[in-house]
Amino acid sequence: FNTVVYAQKTADISTISEKTLSSILEKNRTYYTQGKVADYIPELGKMDAKAIAFSVVKKNGKVFNVGDVQKKFTIQSISKIIALMIAVSEKGEANVFDKMGYFGTDQPFNHFSNLETTGKPLNPMMNAGAILTTSLISGDGEKSFLKILELLRYITKNQTLDYNSSVYESEKSTGHRNRGMFYLMKNNGLISGNEDQLDNYFKQCSVEVTAEDLAKIGYFFANECVRFDGDAKYKNAEMSRLIQSQMLIAGMYEFSGEYARTVGLPSKSGVGGGITVSVPGKMGIGVFSPALDQHGNSAAGYHMILDLVKQYDLSLF
Ligand code: DON
Repeated sequence: FNTVVYAQKTADISTISEKTLSSILEKNRTYYTQGKVADYIPELGKMDAKAIAFSVVKKNGKVFNVGDVQKKFTIQSISKIIALMIAVSEKGEANVFDKMGYFGTDQPFNHFSNLETTGKPLNPMMNAGAILTTSLISGDGEKSFLKILELLRYITKNQTLDYNSSVYESEKSTGHRNRGMFYLMKNNGLISGNEDQLDNYFKQCSVEVTAEDLAKIGYFFANECVRFDGDAKYKNAEMSRLIQSQMLIAGMYEFSGEYARTVGLPSKSGVGGGITVSVPGKMGIGVFSPALDQHGNSAAGYHMILDLVKQYDLSLF
């Protein structure tokens, strides 16, 4: 049990600067030695374990970046919150959650539960629920993936975002467990389409981003789906509540409970080494360091977030 000691005197968040972020980054830089770069998808294993970046987007849209800010990595599971937003806007939340649960879990992200018992995935953050979520987005072929890409480009205001085809091919050729879940859900009557829908899931996981892009995603959900520059095209308080609640209960997989106790903020991790964090009504945080802990979350990333939260009393609790 990891007891966390919070700062006695909280610093004002208006004082967050590149200097503050830089000292937190340097303090946690070596945490990568306690983790391991994901190699179950061979292309991911090529990541530089020492790369590290930390980004914050504050209320006025101001961006603070430190570390390897130009470094791109694949978004992986963080794409699940974007797919969920699209599926819920198209189908309505009642229809989406008729097909899957709103439960937390003590199982890893690629666990089959509860496909063999209730027949439905536990939540849209674990792979099974995420594959199902993407299949619920309308459009043939790669159209549903393109909707995810388009929304990601909007939120980050980064039109250059695209998927990495080698990572995609690597996921597709080794993702037999995901394929197994896809067919079990098809067998259970939850999925009606063909394998293009699974390919769309692999493609959404393979989109390359930077820590800054992740901070902007965190900001968007923290601020009722209003973009960092104030654009309110997708403003929707219910949607941001739904997405942030999923992030809080399941965004860090089986570590979500301890994460809620220690960090206390809606967050979503990916096996590419990124974590996006929403500080409701205040700001977005994006971190990157590819070595993962035993739960599949970035080891140094977690510690950088924890230090920022401790220093500025950012926990919701
Ligand atoms: O489904 C997979 O195996 C990956 N493409 C995504 C999983 C992921 O990022 C889980 N995260 N911690």
